[in-house]
Amino acid sequence: SSTSQTLRGAKGEAEGKIKLFSPAKVNLFLRIIRRRPDGYHDLASLFHTVAFGDSLEIKVLPDAEKDALECNLPGVPVDESNLVIRALKLFREKSGIERFFGVKLEKQIPAQAGMGGGSSNAATAFFGANLLCGSPASPEDLIRWGDDPVIGSDATFFLSEGTAYCTGRGEIVTPIEGLPIKEGLSVYLVKPNYGLSTGKVFKAMDLSALSTVDPEELLQTFKDKGTSHSSWVNDLEKPAFTVSPDLSELKDFLATEWGFEAVLMSGSGSTIFCLGDPSGGSQDFEAATKEKFDIEGIWKTSFMRRPSPTEWYQEV
Ligand code: C5P
Repeated sequence: SSTSQTLRGAKGEAEGKIKLFSPAKVNLFLRIIRRRPDGYHDLASLFHTVAFGDSLEIKVLPDAEKDALECNLPGVPVDESNLVIRALKLFREKSGIERFFGVKLEKQIPAQAGMGGGSSNAATAFFGANLLCGSPASPEDLIRWGDDPVIGSDATFFLSEGTAYCTGRGEIVTPIEGLPIKEGLSVYLVKPNYGLSTGKVFKAMDLSALSTVDPEELLQTFKDKGTSHSSWVNDLEKPAFTVSPDLSELKDFLATEWGFEAVLMSGSGSTIFCLGDPSGGSQDFEAATKEKFDIEGIWKTSFMRRPSPTEWYQEV
C-alpha cells in the first residue's frame, strides 16, 4: 500500500512515528480442558477483536539505550511490569536488532476486565517495532516470536487478523477466516467498577464442575451460524461468580431483562458482553444498569477484524 511505501526509508526501514489501534477482545466461548503440571490450564476458546480499544504511538529512539513508555492514565505502570516494555525486549531478543523505542499509550480498555488490554498493547508494540525495523518478521514469524509467557497468554491472538481459535495456554492460534456475523450487530461491553485477577479466578475453579461440550463442535456451530444460536459457554464464569457474587447478579440482570441475543462474561472477567440491542433502547438500558449496579463503563461497539496489516496503523 502507499502507506507502507512511505514508511520505508532508504534502508527499508519505517521512518517517523506510527499510530496503531490496539483493540480489545471478547471470548465467544471459553472451555477449560485441564490443569497442567506447570500450573497453567489448557483451554479452547474462540477469540474475536472488537472496535473498542487503545491507541499506541511508537517511534525509534535513535540514541537511546532504554525504551520509554508514557501513558495517559496515571495508574498504569510504565516499567517492566507493563507488557509493552516486555514485548519490546522480547522483540530485540528474537530479532537480534538492538534498537530502543518510545511509546505513547492512550488507554480506554480497563484493566482486569477480561478484554485482553495488556496483551493487546504488547502485541501492538511488537507489531509496531517490527514495522519500524523494516519488517524482519512475517506475520507468521511474529506469532511464533510472541509465543512467550512473559507477554501474556493472549498476546499471540492479537497478532492474528482478529478471529481465532486459541488452544494450549491460549497461545496456540488457529486463525479463522471470519464468522457469518450479522453486519452492524451491536456489542455492549459492561464493566463493573471492580476488576478480577485472572490467576485468582483460575484458582477458584472447580475442575470437576466444568462443562463437557466439545470445543470443536462449538467452533463448528459458530462457523456455521455466526452468533445466531444458543451455544454460549465460558467455564470461567462459575469461578468468577464465586470470587464475586455481584457479577452473577449483573449477568442475570443483563440476561433476563433486555432481550439481548446473548450475554456472556469475557475471558476471566469482570466484563460481561451483550449482543444485539436492548429492548427499550440503549439510553434506558445504560441508565437502568448504572442505577442498579456500580459500573465503571458501558461501551457500545461491534465486532471488527484487521484483514490487512495496513489497517493496523497510520502515520502521525
Ligand atoms: O497468561 P496470563 O499472564 O494472562 O495469566 C495470568 C494467570 O492466569 C497465570 O499466572 C495463571 O495462574 C492463570 N492462567 C492459567 N491458564 C491459562 C492462562 C492463565 O491458569 N491458560
